[in-house]
Amino acid sequence: MTFVAPRSDSSPTPVSQNIRERLEQRLHRTSTPDGSNQDEFQEPQPTRSPMVVLSNISKTYRNGSKALINVNLQVKRGDFLFVTGPSGSGKSTLLKLLYGQERPSSGEIMVNDHNLSQVKGNRLAKLRRRIGIVFQDYKLIPRRTVAENVEFVLWAQGFTRKEINRRLWPTLKMVGLQHKARCFPDELSGGEQQRVSIARAVVSTPPLLLADEPTGNLDSDNSIQVIRILKKLNSIGITVIVTTHNEQLVRISNHPVVQIHNGYLHQVRQ
Ligand SMILES: Nc1ncnc2c1ncn2[C@@H]1O[C@H](COP(=O)(O)OP(=O)(O)O)[C@@H](O)[C@H]1O
Ligand SMILES: [Mg+2]
Repeated sequence: MTFVAPRSDSSPTPVSQNIRERLEQRLHRTSTPDGSNQDEFQEPQPTRSPMVVLSNISKTYRNGSKALINVNLQVKRGDFLFVTGPSGSGKSTLLKLLYGQERPSSGEIMVNDHNLSQVKGNRLAKLRRRIGIVFQDYKLIPRRTVAENVEFVLWAQGFTRKEINRRLWPTLKMVGLQHKARCFPDELSGGEQQRVSIARAVVSTPPLLLADEPTGNLDSDNSIQVIRILKKLNSIGITVIVTTHNEQLVRISNHPVVQIHNGYLHQVRQ
């Protein structure tokens, strides 16, 4: 089985096309897509097969720092998971392993049915396109407008101008920022910048969204707003994994929670 179907000369199966369209329509509330370059998209199965499986994962950095120790974790398609734990406990390392920025020292990682230890180079890059990532410090391009920041992702993935326009506005609307489309990042509040970064992460409708301390720089109102948007994305079928050390955010929600402490992962709430 190939990792990703080639873009130009293949067409998705009727089933995957159908599922994909439903997710996109719910996200974008608009007409059907033209089907360009989304062939690798895989959506929640009726059986809720795992989106992420970590088996006996350990990560020791080159300097000897043991960031994760024998971690086992399964996240099903369509789940929303909080990963909590104090600073330095291994939360960011966990997410970096999931999107292939770091490699485990031992153990196996499956993401969206792909064994990450067997995926390298171009294939890894393609898998990463199917993962939306949100960071604490937003990582927006400073000299680009809100619209351009979001469009850039699609442009880099080879979407047509028509498709970029079709996706941009509903996504900005979803995060409540259509009216700020022509603003630059330094003209926005922290909460607004984080919402742009969420729009950028999901505009290509990835089945998996990873958010590393997305509320770390925000006040409580903006934090709740960000979590509300993440929940909304989860409600349309996107699997969401959020790290946070904000206990209050975790307390006011009823999603499953795991905690990492000194590299060890424990289930807190199922
Ligand atoms: N690139 C790196 N090189 C060496 N040690 C690292 C690196 N990244 C993280 N660490 C160490 O791994 C541990 C876990 O870090 P991290 O995953 O960033 O924790 P958290 O996100 O929970 O704050 C810490 O002790 C940290 O110092
Ligand atoms: Mg971190």
